[in-house]
Amino acid sequence: MEGTEKTLYDRLGGVFAIAAVVNHFSDNILENPTAGKESPNPVLRDWSNNQLDRLPGLKFMRTLWVCAAAGGPQKYVATRPGQTPMGLENAHRNFRISPEEFDAVAGELKRSLDHFGVPDEEKNEVLGAFMAHKDEVTAGYRAAAA
Ligand code: HEM
Repeated sequence: MEGTEKTLYDRLGGVFAIAAVVNHFSDNILENPTAGKESPNPVLRDWSNNQLDRLPGLKFMRTLWVCAAAGGPQKYVATRPGQTPMGLENAHRNFRISPEEFDAVAGELKRSLDHFGVPDEEKNEVLGAFMAHKDEVTAGYRAAAA
């Protein structure tokens, strides 16, 4: 009904449901052959093997980002701000994330949303919000290749 639409945040079930998806997806990325512990990208491989003391913080920051992107009451404040409040280019620049690595992570996100039974409409909105930042997340790769 017009005027009564719930935010994506509410439709997903709020912060606890979002955190459960982020937790599952962040753990599974570590086992992904393209983006995790055995990634051909040496920076991602090093992070996934040797910097896991940062994993809880990464899960927290990702949860905050998704909550804010989905219209929740939380405000995302980046540790390495980009050009816009939700900008991710500086947070990812040093990782030199390729488009293929990005797509592998998007595939893990889709699997996690399926794992928790998130309906197609909400699933596509979350994936759309993620894909909208592909250029930012892969900016370091393009800069290194140029
Ligand atoms: C739209 C897609 C993505 C979103 C929304 C996202 C979200 C985030 C956020 C919010 C942070 C923390 C930034 C900060 O410090 O403020 C972060 C850092 C990070 N992300 Fe992403 N990310 C995305 C794509 C990716 C991809 C494709 C990878 C590749 C595996 C990746 C790996 C990492 C790593 C390793 C960090 C750094 C953790 C650290 O500081 O040690 N992200 N991401």
